[in-house]
Amino acid sequence: MTSDAASFIAFSGEHLDAAMRLSQQVRWPHRREDWQMALALSQGCVAVAADGRVIGTVLMTPYGDDAGTINMVIVDAAERGRGLGRRLMQQAMTLAGDRRLQLVATDDGLPLYQTLGFRRSGEIVQHQGHLAAAVAPPEAVRAATFDDMAAMTALDVAAFGSDRGALIAHIASLGAFAVLERQGRAAGFAAQRRFGRGLVIGPVVAFDLDDAKALVAHFLAGRQGDFIRVDTGVDTGLAPWLTSLGLAHVGGGIVMHRPAADDTRRRTPTSFALASQAFG
Ligand SMILES: CC(C)(COP(=O)(O)OP(=O)(O)OC[C@H]1O[C@@H](n2cnc3c(N)ncnc32)[C@H](O)[C@@H]1OP(=O)(O)O)[C@@H](O)C(=O)NCCC(=O)NCCS
Repeated sequence: MTSDAASFIAFSGEHLDAAMRLSQQVRWPHRREDWQMALALSQGCVAVAADGRVIGTVLMTPYGDDAGTINMVIVDAAERGRGLGRRLMQQAMTLAGDRRLQLVATDDGLPLYQTLGFRRSGEIVQHQGHLAAAVAPPEAVRAATFDDMAAMTALDVAAFGSDRGALIAHIASLGAFAVLERQGRAAGFAAQRRFGRGLVIGPVVAFDLDDAKALVAHFLAGRQGDFIRVDTGVDTGLAPWLTSLGLAHVGGGIVMHRPAADDTRRRTPTSFALASQAFG
């Protein structure tokens, strides 16, 4: 089938079961709830074959009017190499309008994204496993409250570069946040929620590596044996510590921007862990 024989329609809740089948086919760990969260925060498109099967997905998650991510780009294995991936990406870029776009590329997606004008700006590593060590709860970190939301969102804007307030609020409705305090002010935060095979810790925003470790440790305390995932930048310094705790390096991806990021230096505060590969 050429991509001309497929139709492209808005991604809605009725496509979630088919989307689950596609992500299972590529061995991504997303549960239905994980797709639901992505869809709730995004606009998207599915490719539908002439017989009605959903054979491709893409989501564009907007962060205000100026930025967004493209994620969940999947084409059914039997339908690849016929232009569907390119057309799904074009649909997502149309949804994005003038927004600056970010994505995390797999090896499969990289050549396509390059031809669409995305340029490499970094690399992330995925660490996960059953927590092997007993981690002590750090004193400087406490559970966040509603009153911390504004400060945490401001830290996230400074670290990520655009306003992910809707994402932060959505994670807060599903999971837990923690704050690291200095002189009575929030100097870093971390979030934890259920995702895939277990728990994901991220985003983690802090001014230095020790603070980032303390924020992660807050959520690791009492979790020995639990399945935990953390996606971190290759150069944040967090990866060796995660490995030492039994959270092995199992993969990763290339961070790309369109247009190319003009400044790839580390921001302060720094994003030490992603909310997910989909959301950055
Ligand atoms: C990435 C993916 C969506 C591409 O879908 P697709 O329908 O095969 O893509 P297309 O047929 O539109 O091909 C897109 C372009 O990439 C090129 N391409 C695809 N795979 C390639 C590869 N392994 N090496 C080199 N080029 C490749 C094609 O030649 C094509 O270029 P062209 O339009 O100039 O001819 C699909 O491989 C997939 O679902 N992979 C598994 C999930 C995944 O990794 N998604 C990406 C997440 S970031």
